Formats: sequence, C-alpha cells, structure tokens
Amino acid sequence: MKKITLFLLFAAVIACKNQPAEDGKSASAFSISETVFGKIDSTTITEYTLTNPAGMKVSILNYGGTVTKIITKDKAGKDGDVILGFDSLSGYLQKGNPYFGCLVGRYANRIAKGNFTLDGKTYQLAINNGANALHGGLKGYDKVIWKVQKLTGDSSLQFTYHSPDGEEGYPGNVDATVIYSLTAANELKIEYAAKTDKATPINLTNHCYFNLSAGTDTTIEQHELQLSANEYTPVDTGLIPTGKLAPVKGTPMDFTSAKLIGKDLPQVLGGYDHNWVLNKKGNALAKIGTLYHAASGRYVDVFTTEPGIQFYSGNFLDGTLTNTKAGKKYVQHAGLCLETQHFPNSPNEPSFPNTILKPDETYHHATVYQFGVR
Ligand code: BGC
Repeated sequence: MKKITLFLLFAAVIACKNQPAEDGKSASAFSISETVFGKIDSTTITEYTLTNPAGMKVSILNYGGTVTKIITKDKAGKDGDVILGFDSLSGYLQKGNPYFGCLVGRYANRIAKGNFTLDGKTYQLAINNGANALHGGLKGYDKVIWKVQKLTGDSSLQFTYHSPDGEEGYPGNVDATVIYSLTAANELKIEYAAKTDKATPINLTNHCYFNLSAGTDTTIEQHELQLSANEYTPVDTGLIPTGKLAPVKGTPMDFTSAKLIGKDLPQVLGGYDHNWVLNKKGNALAKIGTLYHAASGRYVDVFTTEPGIQFYSGNFLDGTLTNTKAGKKYVQHAGLCLETQHFPNSPNEPSFPNTILKPDETYHHATVYQFGVR
C-alpha cells in the first residue's frame, strides 16, 4: 500500500514536471546550458550552467569539477556572483591558482611529510606544501579532466574520474563520482562517492571561495560566521594538527554564536586556516553552520555528513593573481572557504575519524550549501 502511494506521488511529480508551460517550455524551468570555455591539448573544456526556477545559477567546468560562478539574489533582488574565480581558462591554469572552486582529492588538506603506513607498507606521496602533501599532490583531482553526464531532471550533473593506482603516490585505482545538483530551494548539493581496489586514504571536498557581497566588499571581514563546533584541531607551524582537540570557548576560534569574521581575525596568527570538529554525531546530513553578509542580506547555510570543516580565510591571497573576474584584485581575505571534510592528517592520527577506504566499501560524502536572504 505504502509503495503504491509512493509510486503515485512520484508519477504525479514527474507528470507535473513534464507539463509544458504556456510558452511551450517545461513548467519546471530547470535548465542546463553548455558553453566552450577553452581547450587543454585537444580536449574541450566546457562550462555547464545549471539554472533553477528561482533564477539561481551555478556554473561548473569539466576541468577539476571547478565551480566558476554561483549567482544568487541579494535582498533587493539583484543578482550577484558570490564566489571568487577567473574570467578565462588561462586564469584557472595559472601557476598559483589557489584551488578556486575546484574538487579536491584524493586527500583534501594536509598529510604530514606526505607519508603514511597502511597494512605495514609505507607510502610516500608527492610533496607540494613545504614538507607536506596538500590537496592530493602536484596534480590532484582539481587539475584533471572529469567526464560529465547530465542526469535526468535538468538539475544535476554527474562528474566521474578514474584515478590510477600510484597516482601522486596513493595506492589503488579509485573511481570517484561527484554529483552537483541545484535544487528549487536554492541549494547547491554536492554528493561524493568513491570505490577503490586497494586500501587508500580518501577525503574529498570542494574549494569555493565565498564572498557574499558579490564584488562589493574587498574582504570577508564583514561576514558573520556561525559553526556548530565546540572544538577544533590545533596545528603546528606547518598547519599539521598536533593530534589534540582543543575547546574553542574563550578563544578567537569560537564561532558557536554568529560572529563577524573580522572581529578576532587579527588575533589569529596567519589568519583562520583550521579544522573545526563538528558537534554532530554520526554521518547523517546535518546543518553545521551559516555564513551571513548583512549589507547584501545574503546567507548560506551549510549542511554536511562530514565530521569536520576547514574554515580558511583566504590568508595567502595577495592581489597577484591574473585573469580574475572583472580584473578584481584578490587581496588577503578577499574570499573564504568552508571545506567540509575529515580532519587533516587523519592517516597518521589513529584517534581521528577513519579516512581509509577498503575495497569492499564505498566512500560517501554529501554537502549542501543553501542560499537565501534575510
Ligand atoms: C588550505 C590552505 C591553503 C589553501 C590553498 C586551504 O584548504 O587550508 O592552507 O593555502 O587551501 O589555496
């Protein structure tokens, strides 16, 4: 009985979705368009744009699964692009692109000395950040070309990448799948899955730099952030966690209540670039924080299945990137990342939640960024 009711409901939704509007277009007004963004060797780099009925737009490249634009309305109804990025492919290909908008893998964040031991064998990864491995190595998932498939319903794109055994020093062939969806409720939903044929560390995330002012504010200091996290993972000078969890209470790391980012930023040596330990228990999707920009009224609520979030306040931006959107100077703190993930250096920290994927398992991670105004 329950099954029949569900089926009827599903059929009604599909029928409703496919009903032509008076102008002959689908009444749902979801769409996916494609434009050529450039070429890498003989491969065409395409920019796909998802549009929802409210007019929100998200654009993504097959290069690195990179989100190039997120266009949302402010409280006056004016559209604006709320992420940092470049105006051309050469911008994204430039040396020192600080991972604008891309997918990050096989292991987002740092692994100390690029080294870990698994089943008695020691693996050495490519070193690309001081003495450590960062964001999957010299050519991580952000710098490869993903296969893209439109899913039915015109609101989702599926990205797949086969990462060969030994790539950047990691063991095992990994097949990664990422589904980007834009929903009617102004949610950018990112669902990650991966399979491997040998035990390997996996930690996938997205690296969008948000600035909800959409080009008005040069920095994110006037954004308010709230994070449901009573603890964070303190780091050494190379930004490797010490292995301890520390309470945020009474420190500049406390975002348990909404706080202007600029308030305590000067007290944090180098700026915020830390992993917060989310209060949520288990791996169900839960709301873990909100970023709000009062002048535009824009906010983004963040939901995730992950145990941690790296809040990075764009500390290494120094105004030198070229081919930026509208030629903007991306100065220090021009944008911020909210990277939902497992904790940095987990393969070397047995007390941290497990990041080793085994051949009989499937890696799953879902994160939702829901945009709105108030
Ligand atoms: C890291 C920063 C790093 C940046 C790269 C962030 O995820 O935490 O330390 O500089 O990515 O742009």
